[in-house]
Amino acid sequence: PTVYFVDADGNQFEADVEAGTNVMEAAVDNFIDGIVGECGGVMSCATCHCYIPKEWQDKIPEPSEQEEDMIDMVMEPQDNSRLSCQIEVTDELDGLVVHLPKSQF
Ligand code: FES
Repeated sequence: PTVYFVDADGNQFEADVEAGTNVMEAAVDNFIDGIVGECGGVMSCATCHCYIPKEWQDKIPEPSEQEEDMIDMVMEPQDNSRLSCQIEVTDELDGLVVHLPKSQF
């Protein structure tokens, strides 16, 4: 599947990702600035914060309570905030668009 990352300035980056990887790994593997993923995906850093556009939200499993608690701690949380390490890329998510926050800190 292909994932499109869009940074805060509107620049778009395309990443071909293997199904089963999560969006944070996809970003890190493709040198996408804006996703750090400091904790390696164990939900303790929140430096993998991203925004998911409305049209994709329904296709992705709901965040867990722990994920929601972590999102409360990010810089600029929005209704569509997610932790990218908690989103698994599947074939159904081909074409997924992920918006990057201005900063992870
Ligand atoms: Fe640390 Fe997602 S990589 S919370």
